[in-house]
This record gives sequence, structure tokens and C-alpha cells, in this order.
Amino acid sequence: MTIVSVLEQPMAKDRHTYSITGGVPLEGSITASGAKNAVTKQLVAGLLTDQPCVLHKVPRIVEVDLVLGMLAELGTEVTWLGEHSVRVHTPEVRETSLSAMYSGVNRIPILMMGPLLHRRGETIVPLPGGCTIGKRPIDFHLEGLRQMGADIAEHPTSVKVHVDRLAGAHIDLPFPSVGATENLLLAAVRAFGTTVISNAAVEPEIVDLILMLQKMGALITIDTDRTITVEGVRELRGVEHTTIADRIEIASFAAAAIATDGRIEVRGARQEHLVTYLNTLRHIGGDFAETRDGLEFWRARPLTATDVETGVHPGFMTDWQQPLTVLLTQATGTSVVHETIYEDRFGYTEQLSAMGASVELTTRCLGAVACRFHGRDFQHTAKISGPRRLHGADLVIPDLRAGFGYVLAALVADGTSTITGTRYLERGYEQPVAKLAAVGAHITTQSV
Ligand code: EPZ
Repeated sequence: MTIVSVLEQPMAKDRHTYSITGGVPLEGSITASGAKNAVTKQLVAGLLTDQPCVLHKVPRIVEVDLVLGMLAELGTEVTWLGEHSVRVHTPEVRETSLSAMYSGVNRIPILMMGPLLHRRGETIVPLPGGCTIGKRPIDFHLEGLRQMGADIAEHPTSVKVHVDRLAGAHIDLPFPSVGATENLLLAAVRAFGTTVISNAAVEPEIVDLILMLQKMGALITIDTDRTITVEGVRELRGVEHTTIADRIEIASFAAAAIATDGRIEVRGARQEHLVTYLNTLRHIGGDFAETRDGLEFWRARPLTATDVETGVHPGFMTDWQQPLTVLLTQATGTSVVHETIYEDRFGYTEQLSAMGASVELTTRCLGAVACRFHGRDFQHTAKISGPRRLHGADLVIPDLRAGFGYVLAALVADGTSTITGTRYLERGYEQPVAKLAAVGAHITTQSV
């Protein structure tokens, strides 16, 4: 039988090409969707119990459909209770392994190892593979699970794992990896004994996962020094949980308001998830105010350059980097953006330069401190000089977050841009075209 990767199936092809005519200030209100990077992990957490789990504010995006497809393959009953509410119920894990078609699709299958080991003691999960932003290995995930007693055999496109019962361990992460922290949390909650994860990541999406797990009966504490302690419990129960709003989508629309000199209210946006981003917007000349339902963003003065370094939470997140870089093309002076999370996350700027932006990449660390990529051959710092008039172009999206960067570039550019590769954007943004149109963007789509 030939295995067709999900990436080659029809849903992995563009559904639309976008055509955007720039130069229009965006004004109006939109509602933030639930966070992709929280909900996809929370769906996996549902595997930890044989009772039903209900999630609200679930975005209708391809990435969620993919995870639900994976769960269904394992035996989960999936029922949509409303447009954004879904019930997942796995009374019995029928299959312990995910099929190879999910190989290279996303990073969710590797997070299923812990729950599947608790339910069935063994699993084979497909590997995520690298992507256009960097190699993205999973060595921290595997090393942590080994420390918890898992017997792991690595194969070229999958890992086979077996254990009688996972046991608590002290795991010191070499870097505060989001995925590895989540993986170890999902493994530790039902393990025998106590697990300590030091140098853990504490992104709001992880805290939201912890809140859901706590409601399910888990015992988890987060210390001020980013140490997470999990006292394992035998069983977890069903839960009803509302996922946090997507702080990447919110930041994207905030950048769009300021870049186009408009004003956008994002309902559901919460200041506490955006503290560093809001400071950065102020440094550039943007501003925000709390509204009854969320936050409103606008340009308060002519934009000026700034220096930004991406980092782990509560730092400036790497997924805010792309809309910010486009925004900085409109600011007076030279800005520096030092990307310290991914080694190869500026490839998308080549097409910005072709639109008239001045973006110079360097392998040097031009931030406050030398990062993990110091002295290595990675172009991980960008110098952006502005303001530059951008002109419309034919743009091909290389990855999800660069995707909104291109949409934003098209929104500020003179003339009309055509954007393909929109399948990447639509994997993570819910109804991007409808939301942009709602704030007055001149955007049309063509089915392909
Ligand atoms: C999550 O990826 C997000 N993905 C990413 O969003 C986000 O950019 C990233 O966290 C950082 O916030 C999801 O939540 C699905 P990491 P993750 O493990 O968990 C290195 C998007 O567009 N590392 O924190 O994979 C790794 O190579 C995506 O929504 C190892 O070396 O990120 C990277 O340089 C893009 N070994 C760094 O750590 C490991 O075992 C941070 O990765 C694990 C990670």
C-alpha cells in the first residue's frame, strides 16, 4: 500500500489565492480566535482520561482538523457541539500507533507519546521532521521520556516507545522548549511519583494546558524560576475548558492597524498575554487601550526604529517577529531584530526586499547577549532600514507566520499583490480573509 502523507492530500493544497490592494487604513473590530498552539495540545490531553472532555473557543483551522483526524484514528469519538466547541471522548484507545501519513505533518503526534503510554504502555508515533524555519529536533523530548523510564527506538520517520509505567524524574531542559515542556507535562501527570522539569517553558499556552490538566485532577506547580513540579496521579477525569485567545493572531492584527495607520479593536485580546509586545509597539509609535471586550490598537505618532530580540516567555515571542519586521519597514531609522529561537527564520525577507524593503541579514548576534547561534553560520539577525515604500508583488508564502507578514506587506504596499501558498496561513489563522475584509482590507480570493 502506498502511504500518502497528509501534506500531499487535497487539504494540503491552496484553497485560495489572495489578491490584496494596499494603502487602505484598516479600521473596525474583529474577534480573536482560540490559540492554535494551546488547543492542539489540549486535544491531546483529552487522551489522558477515558471520560469526555469538552473544549470551547476551538478555532476552525486545518491544524485542528488534522489533530482531530489523528485522535479519531486512535479511537477518540469527536463531536462538534457548536461552531467552536468540540467534545473528545476516548473510552478506549483502539490503536496505539498513528499511521505514517502523519509523518512530517506537525509536532502533535510526538506529544501523544505520554498519554498513549499511560493508556496502553506502547506506541509508534511519526516524527515531525524539519521545516523552513530550522531543523527543529526532538532530542529534549526523547531524553526526558528516557529519564522517565521509557524504552525508545528511533527510526527514520517514527519512534517506537514502550514502558511498563512512566516514573517521575528530575529533568533539566537544555533550553526552555515549548514542545518538550508540554510533552513532559503530558507524560508526568499520570506517572508514578514526582517529576521536576527545570528550565521549563512557561508560555501562556503552556499555563493554559496546565490549567486544563489541573481541572482534570493533576497536581502541578510552577515556580518563579521556571521550574514545574508534577506529582503524578493514577487517573484523570473529564473536563470542560475554554482555550485562551490567540496572542499571535492578536499581535498580527495590532501590527496591521499600526502599519496601515488605522485602528483595530481585537475582542478577546488580553493585555497580560502581550506585555512585551505592547511595550515594543509603544517604542515604535503604536499605542493600545483596553476596551470593554478586548484591546484596541492604533498609530500614535510617526513610526521610529527599535531593537528587538526574540526569546522565551515572557520575552518577545518568535511568532511575533514577522509582522513586526514588516511594520519596521515603515519606521524611520535602522531597526535590529535578533532571532534567538530559530536559526533560519528570516528566509521570508527576500521577498520583502523584492517589494522595496531594506532588510540586511547577518550571522552576527546584534542583541544584548550572544545567543545559541553565536559563531555559527545562521543568518539570524536582520537590520531593517526605513521607511521604505513597498510595491505590490507576487508573493509565495513559505510558512505560517511569514504568511501573515506577507499579507501585512501587501496591505501597506502601493498597488496590488497576489499571494499564493495561502494553505500555510490557513493552517493557523481562522477566517483570515473574512477578518481582514471586516476591517476594510481590499482583499479578494480566487479559488484554485
Ligand atoms: C512551539 O514550537 C510552537 N509550535 C511554535 O509555533 C513556536 O514558534 C515555538 O513553540 C516557540 O514559541 C507549536 O506550539 C505547535 P520549541 P516548538 O520546542 O514546541 C530547539 C507556529 O507557527 N529544540 O520551543 O517546536 C528548537 O530547534 C509555530 O505556530 C531542540 O533543539 O518550539 C528551537 O530552536 C512555529 N530540541 C527551540 O528549541 C528539542 O528537543 C525552541 O523550540 C526541542 C526544541
